[in-house]
Amino acid sequence: MTLTDPDGNVYLDFSSCIATTNIGHSDPNVTEAIKKQIERILHTSPSDFYSELTTKLAEKLVEITPGNFPKRVFFSNSGTEAIECAFKVARWHTGRIRMISFIGSFHGRTFGSLSLTGSRAHHFNKFSPLVPEVTHVPYAYCYRCAFKKEYPKCGLECINYIENIVLKSICPPEELAGIVVEPILGEGGYVVPPSDFILELKRICEANNLLLIFDEVQTGFGRTGKLFAAEHWKVEPDIICLAKAIANGFPMGATVCKSKIMDWIAGSHANTFGGNPVGCAASLATIESIISQRLWENSEKLGNYLLFRLNEFKEEFKSIGDVRGKGLMVGVELVKNKNTKEPAREERDLVLKHCFEKGLLLLPGGFSTLRFAPPLIITKEQIDIGLNILYQTFKGLKL
Ligand SMILES: Cc1ncc(COP(=O)(O)O)c(C=O)c1O
Repeated sequence: MTLTDPDGNVYLDFSSCIATTNIGHSDPNVTEAIKKQIERILHTSPSDFYSELTTKLAEKLVEITPGNFPKRVFFSNSGTEAIECAFKVARWHTGRIRMISFIGSFHGRTFGSLSLTGSRAHHFNKFSPLVPEVTHVPYAYCYRCAFKKEYPKCGLECINYIENIVLKSICPPEELAGIVVEPILGEGGYVVPPSDFILELKRICEANNLLLIFDEVQTGFGRTGKLFAAEHWKVEPDIICLAKAIANGFPMGATVCKSKIMDWIAGSHANTFGGNPVGCAASLATIESIISQRLWENSEKLGNYLLFRLNEFKEEFKSIGDVRGKGLMVGVELVKNKNTKEPAREERDLVLKHCFEKGLLLLPGGFSTLRFAPPLIITKEQIDIGLNILYQTFKGLKL
């Protein structure tokens, strides 16, 4: 749960180094699995020569990801590559080039994934032209509804917009490969959509023969109180993109896809390092640890506690506009004024800096959100220690 800097200062980690070290830093089982594999063999170029661990991990991911149907797995080294694979296989299988993705979402920084991303203008600055024919639509970010409506009175205007405006005016379903969505926005500020948003997306995909692609790079592996966020809605996506916590910090990405969709011929997509046996050893040990300790349950339980306490802070502090989350993926959005909801970005950055100086690691996200994503092994006492630092920070800064 802690990190120590070169001067010996100890930090309580509420970031998991971007939702990655879900089972904590330096987990002895993961370290041991990596050491053992390094002594055996480092590399086998798994796109030509399978190694046992690569196959084992593929079987494990097929087993634990939502959807009781045959699947295939493509391994890579990062989240952005997991998305690139999904983008390419969706085009390959459907023969259609268009994609829908969401404003506020983050899918990576290589050209394909950047083209799907919609979280910050500076990600795009000087990099155009991007991959064409991606239509970005508003996410169900109810605190800042793009349509200025209120849930549930809105009747899900964001879904209506996709179905009755986008698909009918600018994006013919016959040319559309699929919809790429983060089930909970990550970099966009830990925005949890209403449940029917995800279910309605599924319905739109089924009605129009579109692929539903979940980016679970940040939400996967117990983070949200389920092993995968899709389980909250009992939705079985056609493609699931994974990375970050998959190997607790060892670089690895995976695209898990319905077999009948990943029907491309050998060589359509490949790489040198994906499925590297050391990464697979780290991943298998990580998954074993998450499953044997049922860490998603701790995530749900302590996530609820964290939400409860932060909602108390919201009552007390004038700058906390919104508190939201699922499991240990919790966002606190700071505003200059609770009525106008003007983002308090500088204040958010000050909170981050002060917490850092007092030994608490948090992350920024969205316009002015503090992101809480501690390792899933966290205890109630550690949450209280972190929240005491946060409380003193808000008091000290008169927020
Ligand atoms: C939801 C999501 N998708 C994709 C990515 C890209 O992953 P990577 O940085 O490993 O390329 C990220 C990274 O933050 C992410 O949060």
